[in-house]
Amino acid sequence: MAVRTVARIRKAVITAAGWGTRFLPVTKSQPKEMLPLLNKPLIQYSVEEAAACGVDLVVIITSLGKRAMEDYFDRSFELEQMLERQGKTELLDEIRRLSSLADICYVRQKEQLGLGHAVLTAKNVVGDEPFILFLPDDIFEHGELVLKQMLAIHERHRSSVISVREVAEEEVSRYGIIKAKKVAERVYEVQDLVEKPKVGEAPSRLAIMGRYVLRPEIFAAIESTPPGRNGEIQITDALKRLGQKQPIYAYEFDGELYDAGTLLGWLKTTVALGLKDPVIGSELRDYLGDQLRD
Ligand code: UTP
Repeated sequence: MAVRTVARIRKAVITAAGWGTRFLPVTKSQPKEMLPLLNKPLIQYSVEEAAACGVDLVVIITSLGKRAMEDYFDRSFELEQMLERQGKTELLDEIRRLSSLADICYVRQKEQLGLGHAVLTAKNVVGDEPFILFLPDDIFEHGELVLKQMLAIHERHRSSVISVREVAEEEVSRYGIIKAKKVAERVYEVQDLVEKPKVGEAPSRLAIMGRYVLRPEIFAAIESTPPGRNGEIQITDALKRLGQKQPIYAYEFDGELYDAGTLLGWLKTTVALGLKDPVIGSELRDYLGDQLRD
């Protein structure tokens, strides 16, 4: 599908208020979103994608103990002065670029009542307009391209659009799964959504991944969604409600998706990005080859 005109969406929401229990103890005093993937923290990948899609405001949902994110995207005059004095101009440019990537505001989720609840926390800042939702653990190989395709579908149908990928049969119980009718190449109209179905009970193998273009009616849908699995307010349950009132589309994206939200997933992501890195890639490849031979 060719990218035609791309809808202008002004706001992006990145949920980053979760406990990150799968990384404990490191996440006891440091946000999961600040774990490095090479020399960038995990959340930077989402902020850069949002900026590349031309949003004016990035709303990061945070919670207690997540201040490191605010400092990271802020200016640091002392650091800039030091780099300037030492003539490290490339690093200086990179540090300056970081603090001017996007206008960012932070909204606290005071109780971690689930992803749906975290999104609802952004309601007053987002207002009555569509927005992009990022789950920062999901690192898309072609993130900007995927989102631009989703924005084109949103523009064509004026509907919410979710990103999906086919997963193995035995993996369906880890994801929200859709039942859907194919309407174009890689595009589906969603008929139903199920959060983490049992293997054998899933309506398809199309699993929802961490990029969404959402209409503002999602907020009312979340408000009327009772807590689901683990007592948390799930975004999938809210989408199911929204889908009963208006069409929702799904875009089956191409390219790799790295799940950096688990220890093994984070390690795999680090290795995959490292192998592609122009500076360290070939040395890392040799090192891994040696390790596997031993
Ligand atoms: P996860 O299910 O990965 O939860 O949340 P988590 O807390 O980050 O990690 P674990 O499961 O304890 O290891 C998916 C996304 O939703 C956000 C998380 O920050 C993550 O981006 N989230 C989740 C919130 O912002 N608030 C919540 O109450 C729950």
